[in-house]
Amino acid sequence: MKAVLIRKHGGPDVLSYEEIGDPQTTKDHAIVKVDYCAVNHLDIWVRSGLPGKQVLFPHILGCDISGILVEGFGKFKKGDKVVVYPAIQSDIPRTSFFIIGGFGKYHGGYAELVRVPQKNIVKKPDWFSDMEACALNISYLTAWNMLERSGCKKGDTVFIWGANSGIGSAAILLAKARGFRIITVTSNENKAGLARKLGADLVIDRNRADVINETLKYTNDQGVDAVIDHVGAKTWPTSIEVLKVGGKMIACGTTTGGEANVNIRTLYSKEASIIGAYLGTKLQLIALHEFMKSNKIKPIIDSVFSLKDVRLAHQKMEDGSQFGKIVLRVSS
Ligand SMILES: NC(=O)c1ccc[n+]([C@@H]2O[C@H](COP(=O)([O-])OP(=O)(O)OC[C@H]3O[C@@H](n4cnc5c(N)ncnc54)[C@H](OP(=O)(O)O)[C@@H]3O)[C@@H](O)[C@H]2O)c1
Repeated sequence: MKAVLIRKHGGPDVLSYEEIGDPQTTKDHAIVKVDYCAVNHLDIWVRSGLPGKQVLFPHILGCDISGILVEGFGKFKKGDKVVVYPAIQSDIPRTSFFIIGGFGKYHGGYAELVRVPQKNIVKKPDWFSDMEACALNISYLTAWNMLERSGCKKGDTVFIWGANSGIGSAAILLAKARGFRIITVTSNENKAGLARKLGADLVIDRNRADVINETLKYTNDQGVDAVIDHVGAKTWPTSIEVLKVGGKMIACGTTTGGEANVNIRTLYSKEASIIGAYLGTKLQLIALHEFMKSNKIKPIIDSVFSLKDVRLAHQKMEDGSQFGKIVLRVSS
């Protein structure tokens, strides 16, 4: 099969498109012919390497997979269209799970075939095209989980960083459908226009305006009910600052670094909470599919690259020029 391997950590040039042997079926596993695999920031982390995190080389990236079952099992038939729920239970104490194609022993979907546990197979909902279906298993599921953990109700105000990101664009779409007021942040006018089109009520260009002042002005100095923070070190202080009394900051990412310098007094004097979110459950993924279908929501796809052009896809994500999901066309 054709696959993209990494043999060491590094820049996009370590992504190597080549012919390798097919994966073999093993007990309780299924082989999926990968149609599409979305690119996620996790792919950049695994490609670049993170301290204390290991992969066995050669490794195949790609955690956001849609495709076709090569053989049936249980209620699934050969040829069924499926998506892959990406979390695998961890055997390391005090860690919840690892992710297929991420840091861990499972190869991912940058390949024509992928071997995954049967229990990770989920029927692809007809509402989505094969390409759209691949984009939901990571960013959309995590955004869904974050919004659920925020406890926000209709009419509440949620502040979402990075409107153009996978997580940010998903959170805007899902929050809008839940009837939340949305404040979001972008870094240029083009992204700001697209964020408004998605339904954000207030869009702040962080290069032209003061994010805290604009947010407090919009909320009559009260602050927001919840912040969706996937950016990390550089945004945590602002996220805590804009929370209202009793507000919740939901954190899932460290794009700008994993060690934040925050004002603890501000946090406790507001009786605010910081809540971590890691992906979501398989049941949440199925509920997300249903919610998107009944609210007629399709994921935002920025661009599609063929698997052999994976380096360009990674460069685009690292440039931050995308709005929504970047997708790799693998076999279809
Ligand atoms: N915990 C989980 O289960 C989970 C799941 C999915 C993703 N994640 C993590 O969430 C993060 C986002 O993932 P993604 O795939 O959505 O990434 P992405 O599409 O690459 O987006 C990165 C975003 O970061 C924003 N950003 C960068 N520097 C910034 C700064 N200094 N201030 C404000 N915003 C800044 C960019 O917006 P601008 O245009 O404003 O620069 C962009 O929107 C990653 O760290 C990823 O690992 C975690």
